[in-house]
Amino acid sequence: MLICPTKSEIRTAVAGYRAAGETVGLVPTMGFLHEGHMELVRGARERADRVVVWIFVNPTQFENAGDLAAYPRDTERDLEMLRAEGVDAVYLPQPEEIYPEGAETIVETTRLANMLHGKVRPGHFRGVTTVVTKFFNIIQPDLAMFGEKDYQQLQVIRRMVRDLHMPIEIVGLPTVREADGLAMSSRNVRLTPEDRAAAVVLSRALDAAERLAASGTTLEELRDTITETIAAEPRAALKGLDVVAAESLEEIPGPLTGPTAIMLSVAFGEVLLIDQRVVTPKET
Ligand code: PAF
Repeated sequence: MLICPTKSEIRTAVAGYRAAGETVGLVPTMGFLHEGHMELVRGARERADRVVVWIFVNPTQFENAGDLAAYPRDTERDLEMLRAEGVDAVYLPQPEEIYPEGAETIVETTRLANMLHGKVRPGHFRGVTTVVTKFFNIIQPDLAMFGEKDYQQLQVIRRMVRDLHMPIEIVGLPTVREADGLAMSSRNVRLTPEDRAAAVVLSRALDAAERLAASGTTLEELRDTITETIAAEPRAALKGLDVVAAESLEEIPGPLTGPTAIMLSVAFGEVLLIDQRVVTPKET
């Protein structure tokens, strides 16, 4: 596995793959890898000849310095996991390479970035789209893999790629979960044992909502069920709940019909967890 600390090294590696007529699948990460990332790596391997991973804790998508500093890191362990999965190259840049002195260009999906979870974390999606554009320009992959857990992020990136005519296929893969249903996330290690046990309430609330949707329900009933399930867990603080049209993320004005995304953000102390579910409510 090639480890590339600079832009010129990863570009040389990718140019070699291209010269051999090979396609390139990219897995974007902020490190501290888990099984969810490994599924993205396997997904890229199924779809492309070469798999490239980037590891970069992107400062511009954190709204506060404390959250950025607390973000877990273990590069040696990450590299071991990627090696074992047969990844071809890893790009591990320094922040100064990605954000050179005087950098002032941003990329933003103006509507999608500033609604829903974007209101809970102002500037977050602008940081994501800006850094993803930089990495797409550096690596120029044929396809890039993203998890559906970060549902709004996936829709934001799809929109950006469409709007800016980037010749890259965006592939979304289902959320990978722990045995008790908690969505895998690099943030989970920051939970206290008590909060870790309580965090199962996110998937429990989404399961309840899915059951309700399957038997036919209203928007109000769906929201109430989720709110009450979260409220019954004293360690959890509901920070965001959005029930919106799955593709446009627009509010649903009338009865629930068609694919509907439920997006949930819940805090346990300082740690904000997110989860989502797309349901297709039975028409009543
Ligand atoms: O999903 C993530 O881990 C990050 O938001 C991403 C896409 C790697 C950008 O920093």
